[in-house]
Amino acid sequence: MAEGFGFGKLVAIAIVLLAIYVATDPFGHSAIANFPDFEAYAVDGPSWSETPVANDAENRLQRSEIKFLNQIQGPESLVFDLQGRGPYTGVADGRIMFWDSQNWSEFAHTSPNRSELCKPGPTPMANVKYEHICGRPLGLRFNKRTGDLYIADAYLGLLMVGPQGGLATSLVREVDGIPLGFTNDLDIDEEGIVYFTDSSAKYRRRNFMQLVFSAENSGRILKYNPQTKEASVLLSDVQFPNGISLSKDGSFFVYSDSCAGRLKRHWLKGPKAGTTDIFAVLPGHPDNVRTNEKGEFWVALHCRRNLYSHINSLYPRLRKAILKLPIPIKYQYQMHVGGRLHAVLVKYSPDGELLEILEDKEGKVVRAVSEVEERDGKLWMGSVLMSFIAVY
Ligand SMILES: *[C@@H]1O[C@H](CO)[C@@H](O)[C@H](O)[C@H]1NC(C)=O
Ligand SMILES: *[C@@H]1O[C@H](CO)[C@@H](O)[C@H](O)[C@H]1NC(C)=O
Repeated sequence: MAEGFGFGKLVAIAIVLLAIYVATDPFGHSAIANFPDFEAYAVDGPSWSETPVANDAENRLQRSEIKFLNQIQGPESLVFDLQGRGPYTGVADGRIMFWDSQNWSEFAHTSPNRSELCKPGPTPMANVKYEHICGRPLGLRFNKRTGDLYIADAYLGLLMVGPQGGLATSLVREVDGIPLGFTNDLDIDEEGIVYFTDSSAKYRRRNFMQLVFSAENSGRILKYNPQTKEASVLLSDVQFPNGISLSKDGSFFVYSDSCAGRLKRHWLKGPKAGTTDIFAVLPGHPDNVRTNEKGEFWVALHCRRNLYSHINSLYPRLRKAILKLPIPIKYQYQMHVGGRLHAVLVKYSPDGELLEILEDKEGKVVRAVSEVEERDGKLWMGSVLMSFIAVY
């Protein structure tokens, strides 16, 4: 990691300098006379100065407790059932595991194929090759009335399993003739309507770096009605939508606009129903979002915004060009996260005000976080990259 970082950092600095040079055009039209209008290539996104500067001086996440080390690989989403038992979490080999307060056991699985290919591996990455066969459950939520567990599986779409567990039932594999390519997260309203995200119709989860860098925008926000069994499109042409969470009163949902580093809000009720606006510009690039009892939003950030990731987010053409450079994807990733992966959690009020930020800047205890669930004053953190659950 350390050697790679040195090289990656150097290349990142070179690319940033080049980008600034081109963007500021220091020699007027003499140096880059025929260079096309740079602004024309920028996509909609926050400006650098909008990035919240707040940070956690105490690195409070370093005080987290590591639980279940090596007992579970890549737990992304964490949920508790109607009786308060759990957590339940989806792991790398395609199963949904249940903690009964003493042991982990298999609760459900999304793929009928539980052959040798799907046996649990030693790391969160060990099963990546067969995810399309074994399934990869990401977002999980219980329907608070029926107790059914709804599952967003990156490869198998939207599924549901009853309180007894077992093989989940497939609900949605395609919408409007377009197959779900990378189903990511979901939430359920009082009436049982499911809102869910498909991050891309083109790129699969294991190629998420290509999705980040290509600026491909076939992502969609979808809706499923369990009564009519119909799925429909709410928003299309979205670039890498990730986590999704309804507000406590159900008047809107927010979703993670991962590349731009913000939360967007889509109104479901009231005078603005049907419209989308910006809920908050985040200090970094978000994964899942969850509400707490007060209706505040906890957002897990994949990494903080840095100048490199910021410029990349604004100029998809630039990042497509960078992706083509002969730099291994591993270094590209390190540049993107700013060298050192570290967990960042931010909490927002129901109207989009930044309330709290928690970090482990050195990545000492919690290096990555995909989701945070607040429960009885504790924060439960899962991550696709970790072999444990962290509790703060
Ligand atoms: C669960 O854990 C307890 C305590 O560690 C142990 O005695 C028991 O045998 C375990 N049960 C199962 C089904 O593994
Ligand atoms: C599981 O998938 C593999 C690869 O597609 C296939 O060869 C195998 O027969 C499947 N096993 C079962 C039990 O479906």
